[in-house]
Amino acid sequence: MSRNVLKVKERKDRYKVCYMPGDDSGFDMMEGALVVLLSMDLPIDWVRADLGWCMWEKSVNKFGQGDPRCNTVPPETIDKIRSSDATLMAAITSKSGVKGFKSAILQMRQLFDLYINLRPAKTLPDLGSPLKGDPKIDLVLFRENTEDLYSAVEFHPLPEEMFNLHKGMERFRKMGDVAVSWRVFSSVGCERIIRAAFEYAKSTGRTKVHCCNKANVIRETDGMMKRIFLEVAKEYEQYGITGIEENADATAMWLIKNPQDYQVIVTSNVFGDILSDEASQLTGGLGFAPSGNIGENTAIFEPCSGSVPKYAHQYRVNPSAMLLTSKMMLEYLGLDQAGQKIEWAINEVLKENRPKTLTYDILRDFRNDPDWERNAASTIEMATAIAQKINPSLTDSTLEDIKAKAREMCDWTKTFGFED
Ligand code: IPM
Ligand code: MG
Repeated sequence: MSRNVLKVKERKDRYKVCYMPGDDSGFDMMEGALVVLLSMDLPIDWVRADLGWCMWEKSVNKFGQGDPRCNTVPPETIDKIRSSDATLMAAITSKSGVKGFKSAILQMRQLFDLYINLRPAKTLPDLGSPLKGDPKIDLVLFRENTEDLYSAVEFHPLPEEMFNLHKGMERFRKMGDVAVSWRVFSSVGCERIIRAAFEYAKSTGRTKVHCCNKANVIRETDGMMKRIFLEVAKEYEQYGITGIEENADATAMWLIKNPQDYQVIVTSNVFGDILSDEASQLTGGLGFAPSGNIGENTAIFEPCSGSVPKYAHQYRVNPSAMLLTSKMMLEYLGLDQAGQKIEWAINEVLKENRPKTLTYDILRDFRNDPDWERNAASTIEMATAIAQKINPSLTDSTLEDIKAKAREMCDWTKTFGFED
């Protein structure tokens, strides 16, 4: 591999970072994260961009339903992502059954060829694990991010010639209504995600890489993934790294039984989608699950969680996922110490367990607080506690200024895109 793709292409003294509050509670989590990030005096210039359901609605209002220019991502946003060193994105809202609607993040993954979806799942020492025996989990999942059933090559109704393509289709002829989604793998696609996983293991001193597949049944696509994995694994034996290939259903089971046995997992898009949600539940739940979509030229960091529309603009969501996502972005930019401070401060706030510093999900799921509704901190209260841990000398008036700035930066009544 020519360069470490998990790091920004060019190191700079100051970076331009595009931030996208997304939809609904995405605005709350981004505002919370910014309270912390703005208090840290980072060498970052922030550029706001919007995408998601809010942009879909705006474009439909502007161009009219059915116009091909309607989209969840405005051209302005694409330009801002392209001209930034990295992008930090909060959750977006997807609605099924809306004609012409395409997920904003899926479009960005393909457009910018963000072929790595990096999803760490790590037990925070002061949060604990919901699992028996409180296992210490520290695994990193490399999910292929551009191929597989996410290729968006789908048919419904099925053109007649598709029934003739393969004798296996014969029995579907009599089934009447049939839909097909193609599961496309390329050897280039398999090899680059597998190599990224092994390179990561090598550079972080990890000794095992698991490849989760279903080559025993899905022989061509997963067969390709498994074959390439075993080939690449041989190259890394000399570094003391063992490659283990495993059926994805077995992984789903073993992750619950023996999660501490996993260090690095590499897998295809759909299996990675599922296994990463599972892995996040074994640690802190979606309130703590970060991720990064990374390609050769840029990266978009987004938490795994959804935008929780029912809590939109109520500041209920945990800011930690967005902050751990910010940590990943800071590490991408080479600002590792700042990133580690954020994780340390989250742990400290969890450990101290002071009133009005923890969001409802933590009190309900990890602290057994029967009064979790009433005792819950808001997104901003928890973020403030984290910011104060990082910088104890923050004065009240500076904090108020920072909060006001973060609020202004995430004003959900003023979005950017589809301007005249
Ligand atoms: C994720 C999400 C997305 C995915 C959705 C929102 C398109 O579940 O990032 O895991 O399926 O990849
Ligand atoms: Mg998912």
